[in-house]
Amino acid sequence: MNIATNEPVPRPGILDIAAYVPGKEHAPGVARVFKLSSNETPLGPSPKAIEAFRQAAGNLELYPDGQALALREAIASVHGLNVANIMCGNGSDELLGLLCHVYLGAGDEAIITEHGFLVYKIQIMGAGAMPVVVKEKDCAVDVDAILAAVTDKTKMVFIANPGNPTGTYVPVADIRRLHAGLPKHVILVLDAAYAEYVRKNDYEAGLELVSSNRNVVMTRTFSKVYGLAALRIGWMYGPAGILDALNRVRGPFNMNAPAIAAGAAAIRDQAFVEQAVEHNLLWVGKLTHAFEQLGLTVTPSVANFVLIHFPDIDGKRATDADAFLTSRGYILRAVKGYGFPNALRMTVGSEEANRGVIETLGEFMGREGKSA
Ligand SMILES: Cc1ncc(COP(=O)(O)O)c(C=O)c1O
Repeated sequence: MNIATNEPVPRPGILDIAAYVPGKEHAPGVARVFKLSSNETPLGPSPKAIEAFRQAAGNLELYPDGQALALREAIASVHGLNVANIMCGNGSDELLGLLCHVYLGAGDEAIITEHGFLVYKIQIMGAGAMPVVVKEKDCAVDVDAILAAVTDKTKMVFIANPGNPTGTYVPVADIRRLHAGLPKHVILVLDAAYAEYVRKNDYEAGLELVSSNRNVVMTRTFSKVYGLAALRIGWMYGPAGILDALNRVRGPFNMNAPAIAAGAAAIRDQAFVEQAVEHNLLWVGKLTHAFEQLGLTVTPSVANFVLIHFPDIDGKRATDADAFLTSRGYILRAVKGYGFPNALRMTVGSEEANRGVIETLGEFMGREGKSA
């Protein structure tokens, strides 16, 4: 039956989607603001990337290379990969969306985890499929729970490794076990947006698993350690069959020319990345220790942020802490939407920002906040 309405109507399910809310940027009435809400790097991008971006400004009348070859070649050479298996996107968000729109439809299920990155759910629902949410264990992905949730309808499994907003990771042996337990037609999406920060012997972003299978993809981003969030650059390493399908529907010029140039320069400057990782390792440790000294609980993080849990006694709740920090210009991320109503996620900032948060949270908790 064709039911006429007075206005256009989206497909069923679209209006059930809760739109993504980005991290706050402003602290009203505060002159100096430290934005620690979107896991951006305090070090900014490599100067070489900025120079490449400036040079690209000289040719803005030309379409970009639709294959983003210079960027894919730079990624391939730095990671030792085959260029043909790399696809770039307007942020990894675009690639996650493409995967859903190409492989999911009405009646399909895709598995996500309790505290998983919200974009997965949005894109799954956007494709008309059903997100199946699986519990995590101690703020970490539970591989057995995922395997137990697989049904005949499952088409895709999404894991952020490391997780956002938890900062925990799944060791490579468990990722392999997960993959081995999935039917061959189910795509395992390993979202490794924070991979560069991880310094653990039992962690792998997923390159090897992608190379030896036809149903695994790994996504990465230039928005975090490379400091190029404004340019929207993500990439996927995947098997030929999946890339071929995605390439048929992606926008023909989805990567802009300044992004291609700056991204290529950034990834070739690995010395700069090392500095950013060193700064992060130092401060994740210091921040965790300092917050624990204040009586707060911090989920152990391998990424560039920490998840701080509040005790909920005497008004010491995350919402109160958020308001107090914001009034001083420190903007953290409320993570209620990720299943943590009483926690805040703090991105590792500059030394000044980090010390400021420690001191301010100390004041909030009624103790003196100290960092080494
Ligand atoms: C786990 C995870 N995946 C993907 C992204 C999106 O990255 P991009 O900026 O490349 O779209 C983010 C950004 O916050 C993230 O935390």
